[in-house]
Amino acid sequence: MERELTLEFVRVTEAAALAAARWMGRGDKNAADGAAVSAMRAVFDTVAIDGVVVIGEGEMDEAPMLYIGEKLGCGKEPVDIAVDPVEGTNNVAKGLPNSIAVVAVAERGGLLNAPDMYMDKIAVGPKAAGCIDITAPVKENLKNVAKALKKDVSDLTVVILDRPRHEKIIRECREAGARIKLIPDGDVAPAVAAAIEGTGVDMLLGIGGAPEGVLAAAALKCLGGDMQARLWPEDEEDIERARKLGITDINKVLTLDDLVKSDDVIFAATGITDGDMLKGVRFFGNGARTHSLVMRSRTGTVRFIDATHRFDKKPIFVRQHLC
Ligand code: FBP
Repeated sequence: MERELTLEFVRVTEAAALAAARWMGRGDKNAADGAAVSAMRAVFDTVAIDGVVVIGEGEMDEAPMLYIGEKLGCGKEPVDIAVDPVEGTNNVAKGLPNSIAVVAVAERGGLLNAPDMYMDKIAVGPKAAGCIDITAPVKENLKNVAKALKKDVSDLTVVILDRPRHEKIIRECREAGARIKLIPDGDVAPAVAAAIEGTGVDMLLGIGGAPEGVLAAAALKCLGGDMQARLWPEDEEDIERARKLGITDINKVLTLDDLVKSDDVIFAATGITDGDMLKGVRFFGNGARTHSLVMRSRTGTVRFIDATHRFDKKPIFVRQHLC
């Protein structure tokens, strides 16, 4: 993929974040998501790609836009696209931290077509790459990651979604003496943060969405981090859903390369609400400021982009979504 595309994908996540942020704390997660979806959709169609959504808002009959299989872009470069216009919809609705607008784009066939179901995940940064094993006890993973980071286990910060299903791993982390950050929603941002020095996050553990797992894996591929995952079906329907997407071994341990097959991937995210890694959208007068992250696996360059936007000067489609 052409490197110029990186900035184009930041424009996509900025537009989604700006649109969703208008809904912060207003108690309506669907409205926040709807606004972000249509803003993201509008900007995608100005980008010179021949894109297909492989991870999106749902099946064609469930989602009006950004549905799986939808074609995006106005160019010839064949790419697969994973989107989450609002990752952490509840966080936006309640004005809580760590919601982001996010996309990952890879050459055609480069992203796992993850079914819409749960996935068990373990994610770490570059220093701990190769030191994780999702089949091993939590205690062992903590010990190995701490050793790789030259820290004591008691200095590790592990992020876990605050869910009853995580009672066991929370107990195991506490018994091992690790510090835990329990989050209400949004497990993509902390998985990425684990691979960025200075965020204060060392590791993500636990079960969240499989599509979110692929998005996090795209970022970790760019950052040289590591991730292992395993689908976590709740019933026969989930197993069937996975089978339809070509996944026959539901228990397979998925490595970073299984989640993101391509070595040519671009990841972009913009903060909607403040988080460990990205600041949220701040509105002023006739504009706003956004904070984004964009990176490319080919070069490993990581860019944080602090942008101000003038709504009176934006193209018409952006004004329609934001003013
Ligand atoms: P949404 O943005 O779609 O609401 O997802 C938020 C999220 O917390 C994800 O980050 C996470 O992977 C998943 O939901 C966890 O699912 P559940 O809320 O069912 O535990």
